[in-house]
Amino acid sequence: MTPNPRTIAILGGAGKEGSGLALRWGYAGHRVLIGSRSAERAEAAASELNAELATGPISGMTNGAAAAAADLVVLTVPYAAQQETAMEVATELAGKILVDVTAPLKPPRVSVVQLPEGGSAAVALQERLGDMVTVVAAFQNISAHHLRDLDHVMDCDVLVSADDADDADQVIALVNDAGMKGWHSGPLANSAAAEALTSVLIALNRRYKVPGSGIRITGIE
Ligand SMILES: NC(=O)c1ccc[n+]([C@@H]2O[C@H](COP(=O)([O-])OP(=O)(O)OC[C@H]3O[C@@H](n4cnc5c(N)ncnc54)[C@H](OP(=O)(O)O)[C@@H]3O)[C@@H](O)[C@H]2O)c1
Repeated sequence: MTPNPRTIAILGGAGKEGSGLALRWGYAGHRVLIGSRSAERAEAAASELNAELATGPISGMTNGAAAAAADLVVLTVPYAAQQETAMEVATELAGKILVDVTAPLKPPRVSVVQLPEGGSAAVALQERLGDMVTVVAAFQNISAHHLRDLDHVMDCDVLVSADDADDADQVIALVNDAGMKGWHSGPLANSAAAEALTSVLIALNRRYKVPGSGIRITGIE
């Protein structure tokens, strides 16, 4: 159990990536608030996840209610809904870290790198939200399939792109609590590399017929 339990909102948390993170953080002892456009959908997802945990630390509510009640917020919605979802709760995000998990995939060619014009979807989101919110990018390269299975040992690392080292450390602590190793991989602009890697990993999954390839950083003690 984590010695520093936090209240974490996951916007879009009833989906694949968000529910995997919710399960891992709930298991680690954090209070998790699943956000959704539909409170009923969030409540159903929370009940399903709590059934796998002894403690039941996961609740479901609207995205706005989750963002308001949390001390840190995570965004796990498709790229097409990234800015709109965050802007809808911009007031509730003020003064908080927003961990952006979005990979700028453009269906149907999701295994081909197609970064947005400015380079990074996370930087574009930070510009849209302004200085009141601190965007940190992470988890774009982590398979939802593996997160959702608590018996699976997470054999991969997480690149955490953040302009401030203390903000990166807060997110790295959550990476560790989810069973992985996190690295401060430079400023938020460097999230372009992690965003691009998502399509590379999807291509690897298809080529080698696996549910979730990942990355590992070597050479650092
Ligand atoms: N799946 C993975 O393995 C994986 C791995 C790394 C990164 N990611 C990234 O994580 C993000 C989420 O991926 P996912 O696979 O979890 O997606 P998903 O299951 O398809 O969607 C997640 C949630 O987003 C909300 N949503 C969907 N369309 C929306 C819209 N038009 N407007 C507002 N909300 C919408 C839905 O929540 P409600 O209907 O409940 O509101 C949905 O449950 C993506 O950016 C993806 O690139 C995914």
